[in-house]
Amino acid sequence: MTDSRRLVDTLGRVHNNLRISVTDRCNIRCFYCMPNENVQFKPRAEILTFEEIVRFTRVAASLGVDKVRLTGGEPLVRADLCDLVSELAAIPGIRDIAMTTNGVLLADHVVALKQAGLKRLNISLDGLREETFERISRRQGLDRVLEGIFAAQRIGFERIRLNAVAIRGITEDEIVPLGEFARQHNLELRFIEFMPLDAENNWCDDQVLSGSEIRDTLENEFGPLRLSERTDLSQPATDYRFEDGRGVIGFINPVTQPFCGSCNRLRITAEGKIRNCLFSIAEWDAREVMRSGGSDEQLVELLQDCILAKKPGHGIDSPDFIRPERAMYQIGG
Ligand code: 5AD
Ligand code: SF4
Repeated sequence: MTDSRRLVDTLGRVHNNLRISVTDRCNIRCFYCMPNENVQFKPRAEILTFEEIVRFTRVAASLGVDKVRLTGGEPLVRADLCDLVSELAAIPGIRDIAMTTNGVLLADHVVALKQAGLKRLNISLDGLREETFERISRRQGLDRVLEGIFAAQRIGFERIRLNAVAIRGITEDEIVPLGEFARQHNLELRFIEFMPLDAENNWCDDQVLSGSEIRDTLENEFGPLRLSERTDLSQPATDYRFEDGRGVIGFINPVTQPFCGSCNRLRITAEGKIRNCLFSIAEWDAREVMRSGGSDEQLVELLQDCILAKKPGHGIDSPDFIRPERAMYQIGG
């Protein structure tokens, strides 16, 4: 593939990683992502069909995208998701399909997902106490998430990652138990700093429990953490191993240590808007192109325009930072 057919931005960042939101709906209501009540979901007719998602992904793959991740909302609330996974897996050039899920419905679907060609799973787990789960998600369901994790392990998903959003005042007491759980069950655990993408606009930087604080807490309990060598420079996490070799802990520190310089990600929202950043203000409307009879070449141009407009970074810590209007569930994690 020539460079002019790749999604390279003005800083030379090559975009090969597409995050596809398949729905803005969710079966729980994490406060860092969604409002609690009266959520304004997009009408179904506005959500991309599987056919549209597959067409868009095929065009993106012709521009060098080789990894996709399904996000939401909660991807598993979308009916027949496995069918989409197998169609995406069949696209030439796509070599990796992953999904980020809250895990609540996972146990029911995990076998079919694996058969359809899903390679990797990230499961959200912010704590191990039901009380913490309910405080964050404002619903019940930790047991089902744990069932989902074990079911995924049992049927042979490898390298399952747990995502823990860290929030000061809420999850400090969960850090050590989560570390212990990950070590015991041979799971990768990643702590993610709370980003200003909550729907109720309550984020403030006092609530950011930084990766370095969490690392200190873990080292006090388990002894020194050893930095793992980076194999994929574009991955946002910095990974560590425990001295005794049991367990991997990663830190995604978008607030205190932005990793925008090596970003290779682009996103498409459930209703077909392309975004070059979680925090971008502008969007490019792929659904409009597809539903008005536009050609694949027009989609190529749209994708290239979007990537060329990508800013160097999110600027959360800058005084001119403007929060995107959309919250996390409307973008896709
Ligand atoms: N800050 C950090 N992480 C978030 N997630 C959702 N909202 C936020 C936020 N405001 C995480 C979820 C999930 C992934 C989709 O993104 O926990 O793991
Ligand atoms: Fe649902 Fe994920 Fe948002 Fe939580 S973070 S409300 S699980 S979409």
